[in-house]
Amino acid sequence: IVNSTVGDAKKRQMDGFTLEQNDKTPLTSYFGTKIAETDIALRAGARGPTVLEDFHNREKISHFDHERIPERVVHARGAGAFGEFKLHTPLTGLTTAKILTDTSKTTPAYVRFSTVGGSRGSADSVRDPRGFAARFYTDEGNWDLVGNNMPVFFIQDAIKFPDLIHAVKPEPHNEIPQAQTAHDNAWDFMGLHPQSTHMQQWAMSDRAIPRSFRHMQGFGVHTFRLLDSEGKSTFVKYHWTPHLGTHSLVWDEALKLAGQDPDFHRRDLWDAIEAGAYPKWELGVQLVKEEDEHKFDFDLLDSTKLIPEDLVPVKNIGTLTLNRNPIDYFAEVEQVAFCTQHIVPGMDFTSDPLLAGRNFSYQDTQISRLGVNFGDIPVNRPVCPFMTNQRDGQNTMFSKTNRTAYHPNRFDALPTTEPAKGGFRSYPEVVAGIKERLHGPKFNEFVSQAQLFYNSMSEPEKKHIISAYQFELSKCYETQVQQTALNRINLIDHDLALAVAESLKDVTVPDAVPNHGNKSAFLSQVTGKSQTF
Ligand code: HEM
Repeated sequence: IVNSTVGDAKKRQMDGFTLEQNDKTPLTSYFGTKIAETDIALRAGARGPTVLEDFHNREKISHFDHERIPERVVHARGAGAFGEFKLHTPLTGLTTAKILTDTSKTTPAYVRFSTVGGSRGSADSVRDPRGFAARFYTDEGNWDLVGNNMPVFFIQDAIKFPDLIHAVKPEPHNEIPQAQTAHDNAWDFMGLHPQSTHMQQWAMSDRAIPRSFRHMQGFGVHTFRLLDSEGKSTFVKYHWTPHLGTHSLVWDEALKLAGQDPDFHRRDLWDAIEAGAYPKWELGVQLVKEEDEHKFDFDLLDSTKLIPEDLVPVKNIGTLTLNRNPIDYFAEVEQVAFCTQHIVPGMDFTSDPLLAGRNFSYQDTQISRLGVNFGDIPVNRPVCPFMTNQRDGQNTMFSKTNRTAYHPNRFDALPTTEPAKGGFRSYPEVVAGIKERLHGPKFNEFVSQAQLFYNSMSEPEKKHIISAYQFELSKCYETQVQQTALNRINLIDHDLALAVAESLKDVTVPDAVPNHGNKSAFLSQVTGKSQTF
């Protein structure tokens, strides 16, 4: 079932790349030669050797040999669908981006949902954050909002991302566990790394075992910028709210589903769209004026913090509907390449150090995952005209008609002296500083929002968090790992630590910490020694 409004630009574009094949299409070689026999290789006599001459045999086996590409280094397990985005409440005067100001437009969209830690074949219902990567094929270029179903992250600085992922991925010596956080390395890192304190609460909560992709919130996590026609900036955080409400599994269901139907979330999304029960989300924004940047007791550039909604309410501005399943999973889901740096004029980044690393990392990994011309892959192409001076490289798909690939040139549309009108411009932020490895002072407080989260939970939700910690930590072999993790939990809530400790042997719950925000008390209790981070 395909919604008629999906006669959209992206569908029309991709239709041109669809190979119409059915049971009447004759089998041919890759290059069109009709094949008469595909079951028996050419041999010198019925019992003789197979001959090299058999190009069909060689082509068939050789292509098979190269079918696999590297899976995503994170978020390898996922499902995607196409749809559309319709703005209903324009951000007039705040940005020049048409996707956020033009309510007459229906913009083709695409979303890939994922787990983070597991490999491509892992189960859907494991305890893990979920990726919520949205792409808008706008008339001004692709805008990718590459978020998660949790509003904060484990680390503040992208330089820690390899450490985080090496800790949560299966352990290197035995490749265990395949898809969950319950192991020594993960808890070793999270116990020792203060930045993970807040996100750890989300990961131990019911949010980490969503009922389905259709029942998940999504968050852009970072603070981004909107730019008006004068180049004035407003800070923005993005939120997705599902029309179906936010729902979770309970742990027992999640465990059973991981065995009985490891495709549970993928199947749910596919079946819903096939049945015409199109999932919808509201896109919401939290807006902060440039001059209010420093009015919070946390730093807007710190991705381990959210902006509480009682300080800045979420304003819904548009609706995303997913209404078309992919035709070919590999072509359209495995090969989709999102990147936080895909933004359009009227938007910009902030100096969030996590975002800066992401802007580099995605494109970098996609070069090895998909090749340097991954932008030519249909699902990744913008629907607006595009013209770059990039050329050549493996798997160049298009014969470009322009004879120059440099600037300036004799046919150039770009003026050589002034920037093109309507083109992307960075926010002219005033920056001055000493080059050093340091974060802003407000980056050093890790506990208060973790407490905010825990205290906002209902009693059943608190019980679920306690059981999640008990399950996870009881799977660790090393008492020291359990103890360090418990010390951190104690900083969040003493009663929580006491409850978790009930399922652990040989650990002691430290005294309640009176001043949770105090860094030195925090450090000495977690590690038993003074330490600088
Ligand atoms: C993939 C979200 C932080 C590197 C992804 C995906 C999502 C995501 C949703 C899957 C994209 C897809 O469906 O194809 C986030 C969020 C982050 C975060 C919300 C923090 C706010 C980071 C950081 C780095 C990073 C700090 C590196 C420094 C990657 C890489 C991939 C990925 C390499 C695989 C991309 C690909 O192969 O196409 N991330 N991520 N992420 N992320 Fe992140």
